[in-house]
Amino acid sequence: MADLFVLLEAAWRAPSAQGKCLAVDALIPVYLTLCQDQPLAEAMYPAPDCASVGRPARPVCVPPESLPFRKAVDKDGRAALLHAIAHIEFNAINLALDAAWRFQALGPAFVRDWIGVAIEEAYHYRLIAERMAQLGIAYGDLPAHDGLWRIAEQTADAVLARMALVPRLMEARGLDALPPIFRSFQGIGDKATLRVLSIIARDEVRHVALGDAWFRRLCEAQSLPVAETYQRLIVTYDVPRPRPPFNEAARRAAGFEASELTALVGR
Ligand SMILES: [Fe+2]
Repeated sequence: MADLFVLLEAAWRAPSAQGKCLAVDALIPVYLTLCQDQPLAEAMYPAPDCASVGRPARPVCVPPESLPFRKAVDKDGRAALLHAIAHIEFNAINLALDAAWRFQALGPAFVRDWIGVAIEEAYHYRLIAERMAQLGIAYGDLPAHDGLWRIAEQTADAVLARMALVPRLMEARGLDALPPIFRSFQGIGDKATLRVLSIIARDEVRHVALGDAWFRRLCEAQSLPVAETYQRLIVTYDVPRPRPPFNEAARRAAGFEASELTALVGR
């Protein structure tokens, strides 16, 4: 336990995707200890500026609007789609580690939840990287955009906004994106990728649910209304809006109420 944040820092700072995944593996014994409801034995260990997070020199980051819309209808489309998913998974490792480290003051249950997410995101990254290797591509071969990490930077001092805008907004948008991505790979009969995506889809619902649960807890502690506060934060931070069609079954499983989904559709 004594080295929880030392291990966390090593994973957060690891620049290569492979090195980061290995550093996340090293957190598994700590994670299992936290699962036994152990208190955090350590003094506060503050997280540095988000800008110093470890990431590889490639992929080159470009504005989101300069990336083409991707569909797995041909070889290049499939490569681009898998690469985009790998980039999301890589960022998701950093985002989960960052939440556990930066907002450690919320206590051992919070730290445990987000270390658990980081472990699953590293698993997802490896599954996608393995599938890409079978198809002759590697993470870093194509450009990517940095939208997710920019939101982490924007919310570095505000856990309420972080929970609202990373898991409950951006990752929930990821749930919405999954059905068309599934159809796209079904269309080309790529069963190997579909198997990987099924694992990711299952776990991502739980990650959004964790974000939803922590967001609700934080709202309750400050006597804030959930749906209105969520909308207010989206506007205040000027981030991408929830965009229908929603994956309603996945969103409900992750904690969104029918009334909030209806209100989101109406906007
Ligand atoms: Fe993931």
